[in-house]
Amino acid sequence: MKITAILLAAGQGTRMKSALPKVLHSVSGKPMLWHALNAIRQSTTETPVVVVGHGADEVKAYLGEAAQTVTQEPQLGTGHAVMQAESLLKGKTDLVVVCYADMPLLRGETLQKLVETQKQNKGPISMLTVVADDPRGFGRIVRKADGTVEAIAEEYVATPEQQQIKELNVGGYCFDANWLWDALQRIPKNPKKGEYYLTDTVELASNDGLSVHATVMDDIEETIGVNTRVHLSEVEAAMRRRINQSHMLNGVTLIDPASTYIEADVKIGRDTVLMPNTYLYGKTEMGEGNLVGPNTMIYDSKIGNGCKIISSVLEGAMIEDDVDMGPFARLRKGAHLGNHVHMGNFGEVKDSYLADGVKMGHFSYIGNAKIGANTNIGAGTITANYDGEKKNPTEIGEDVFIGSDTMLVAPVKLGDGARTGAGAIVTKDVAEDTLVVGMPARAIRKLERKKKK
Ligand code: UD1
Ligand code: CA
Repeated sequence: MKITAILLAAGQGTRMKSALPKVLHSVSGKPMLWHALNAIRQSTTETPVVVVGHGADEVKAYLGEAAQTVTQEPQLGTGHAVMQAESLLKGKTDLVVVCYADMPLLRGETLQKLVETQKQNKGPISMLTVVADDPRGFGRIVRKADGTVEAIAEEYVATPEQQQIKELNVGGYCFDANWLWDALQRIPKNPKKGEYYLTDTVELASNDGLSVHATVMDDIEETIGVNTRVHLSEVEAAMRRRINQSHMLNGVTLIDPASTYIEADVKIGRDTVLMPNTYLYGKTEMGEGNLVGPNTMIYDSKIGNGCKIISSVLEGAMIEDDVDMGPFARLRKGAHLGNHVHMGNFGEVKDSYLADGVKMGHFSYIGNAKIGANTNIGAGTITANYDGEKKNPTEIGEDVFIGSDTMLVAPVKLGDGARTGAGAIVTKDVAEDTLVVGMPARAIRKLERKKKK
């Protein structure tokens, strides 16, 4: 059986007061549209169709290959929006799932159940409803005396009695496709706004004597639709609780979930502990048994196992196992720390590889550098990598000892076992096992290197 979703995303979202189309506003680091598509994917078999209108170019650019799009111009209501997909889908799908792109909390499982309900339904529509005290402008579900669904009364056409109805239209439907295409043609034009409402299909089915199945959802949170930035913040908070809970249930300790911010795509291994004020963004992935935070921000970074990261900022970095860093360390794009690297306070690393066991305790800047295993970077060391025009590389061998406050003027290479005196300014390559001192540093003697175990 072919099941295709139509996602409505053509509306202006006027109440967001934004230059950005509403459905591209983000929730837990991903556009609302991403969340909606994610839920749809779990319940359908075909590529979804997204109805675009306002901000169509931006929305299409975001979607790329993830969906087919049809343009609704002008926007004459939700029924009219669904009509735009008919030419793409007629004869190509058995069931049509319709939902609105501004409901990022709606779960895939919920849509899946909706589809299962419609497979059993002899009538043409299954839909989601919720019972709530605050109607929030939702359509009211009008039922007959025998309990069957008769119609959906939109708020501003509802009679005073209908206004009192507590059962509301969530905005998730599964239709029998053949019935739908025909019914869309029969939707009356709304006299007040000149629009065609998808919700009127319910009354059409009821008038035809066909059954409309309504599933009452018990999780009100899932049904929050975003019309204003106040709703957006409610959805953000709910999504954050949901994401945090799923990590906790997978074995991650969150000392204070209320101050822990994890975006939707982040992956965390078990027995990792997140301290308060930890922000994990983008494509960040980390293994098991790490201790992160407090006060740490990690963007798009990969972290191994057993690391300790305190009050630090990582962006586009990679660190292997048992690294300990911070407080106040910063890894920028292309920083790669090997196993057991130690990086203390006020260090910054960018586009550099620090091999296993490198120690960099205090106040250093390492950029465009390669540092060999077990090298010690003294306090205040700087790779002077930028000559005003381009970035130049620094290569430091294994078992090197860089004295405090050394300036390494790139491009420059230091051989294995080399050593610099405190305050050295190194402008020329240093041979293996050689001590350099001074300003600019010059070789003064050959060294005996002690082999580390
Ligand atoms: C709609 C429902 C209402 C339901 C509520 C749940 C209708 C007529 N009403 O009302 O019963 O309780 O959602 O949130 O369906 N859109 C288009 N083209 C249009 C108009 C809208 O694509 O011409 C899209 C919007 O971008 C939006 C969605 O459809 O994603 C819903 O439209 P909106 O105007 O927000 O409907 P509501 O008034 O919230
Ligand atoms: Ca809405």
